[in-house]
Amino acid sequence: PRILILGAPGAGKGTQSANITEEFDVEHVTTGDALRSNKEMDISDLDTEYDTPGEYMDRGELVPDEVVNAIVDEALSQAGGFVLDGYPRNVDQAEELEDMTDLDVVLYLEVSDEELINRLTGRRLDPETGDIYHLEYNPPEDPEVEERLVQRDDDTEETVKERLRVFEENTQPVIEFYDDRGVLERVDGEQAPADVWEDVKETIEEAA
Ligand code: AP5
Ligand code: ZN
Repeated sequence: PRILILGAPGAGKGTQSANITEEFDVEHVTTGDALRSNKEMDISDLDTEYDTPGEYMDRGELVPDEVVNAIVDEALSQAGGFVLDGYPRNVDQAEELEDMTDLDVVLYLEVSDEELINRLTGRRLDPETGDIYHLEYNPPEDPEVEERLVQRDDDTEETVKERLRVFEENTQPVIEFYDDRGVLERVDGEQAPADVWEDVKETIEEAA
């Protein structure tokens, strides 16, 4: 299936995408991870405000559309089934995506702002596997893993606030874009991870 997963920063898009790729024959296409691997790429020839993606990301701002559109176009052209995470983040990107592919299901993970902040400030990553943990909600069992956990550069309090503001301003209209088309499947993302997964899985199975 061709799956789009929407949600605010910290809603659980990455966590549920990992479940989805394990259960279904799809590729995880994520602009956030792709950009993090290219933080220092020189984009100054695009006449952008900053010279690299990382400068936008560390401020919590959106990387210019031309950069992300190209990443997604390339990734989707090579994927069969996919779960798309982190894109589209504004209505222009949503319109671009319509020209690139059809979607079988559009999921929206709903989580309150207060919980989003708890999740983002407590998030830790395993730099060796890319696995996502949380200090309180989902700590690693292996002490060796625990010792090597790192925090994402944009999970500081100041940048988290800006990311949530940018979501309200630019990405809420994307939620409405799909809602207006009658294709938005809302999932209560505030539940425990396993319960969110149960709902996500069922929604995909019904749609695909
Ligand atoms: P991106 O990487 O896409 O970040 P984001 O949207 O801010 O989302 P996150 O990755 O922070 O959260 P998530 O929903 O994946 O949550 P997770 O599963 O990790 O983008 C980063 C930056 O790149 C942007 O700010 C922008 O600069 C740039 N960018 C990316 N795409 C772009 C685009 N299209 N256009 C322009 N710029 C773009 O979970 C979070 C935490 O909660 C974890 O600790 C996890 O363990 C925990 N958790 C998850 N589920 C639960 C649960 N049910 N209960 C309790 N805890 C949970
Ligand atoms: Zn993510």
